[in-house]
Amino acid sequence: MPNNVTVIAIDGPAAAGKTVVGRQLAHRLGFKYLDTGLMYRALGWLAKQRNISADDQSALATLAQNAQIRLEGQDGDQVLIGEQRLGSELSDPEVSHWASVVATIPAVRRAMVMLQQSIAADGSIVMVGRDIGTVVVPCADLKIFMTASVEERARRRWRDLSEQGREVAYDQVLQDTRERDHRDSTRTDSPLVPAEDAIMIGTDDLSIDQAVDAILQHLKLKAEK
Ligand code: DC
Repeated sequence: MPNNVTVIAIDGPAAAGKTVVGRQLAHRLGFKYLDTGLMYRALGWLAKQRNISADDQSALATLAQNAQIRLEGQDGDQVLIGEQRLGSELSDPEVSHWASVVATIPAVRRAMVMLQQSIAADGSIVMVGRDIGTVVVPCADLKIFMTASVEERARRRWRDLSEQGREVAYDQVLQDTRERDHRDSTRTDSPLVPAEDAIMIGTDDLSIDQAVDAILQHLKLKAEK
């Protein structure tokens, strides 16, 4: 592991495997881990709780600026918003929808990006999201763009939801995934696109371990340069 590598950015569409691969990679390297999607999910949850209209950009921006989101724990996966601790509600399909809606608002993104940059400042971190390599840490030492077919990603999300006891039809999950892809990649502020210098990794036929090993291999090649 090169000692000058401090930030690894992993971007890509929903359910491409970023979270599970990023977390395992961070463990292998002894790095911190940050899933930035959880921040948008926490805000989406709050917006839904407060019955804020999806069209009310100024109320959503104010919400983001005052939200006091904190991610705690070794993997940064314990999410607090104010004093409220959030758990499985963050993977609710309605919250996923709301997260992708609030994530289109530039003032919301500015507030989230500032928070993410302050967490990244100490380095030795794996960060997962949509705009890490393009906006949050454009000077990241290694940028990965992880993808998989929409059908495979919907299958994974459907399996996760079923394991949590949530009964949702696969076709519905597929449609939701397509809608989120569309919203994430067509928004005007920080759309989901690979950074020019990102390494593309397709995970349709890769196990988690294989994807982690592929990234470690790229790190090794970088160190040898
Ligand atoms: O990765 P995820 O599915 O938990 O992300 C939830 C939503 O947040 C997703 O629709 C896109 C948005 N998001 C974003 O716009 N930028 C990020 N860095 C992370 C997530």
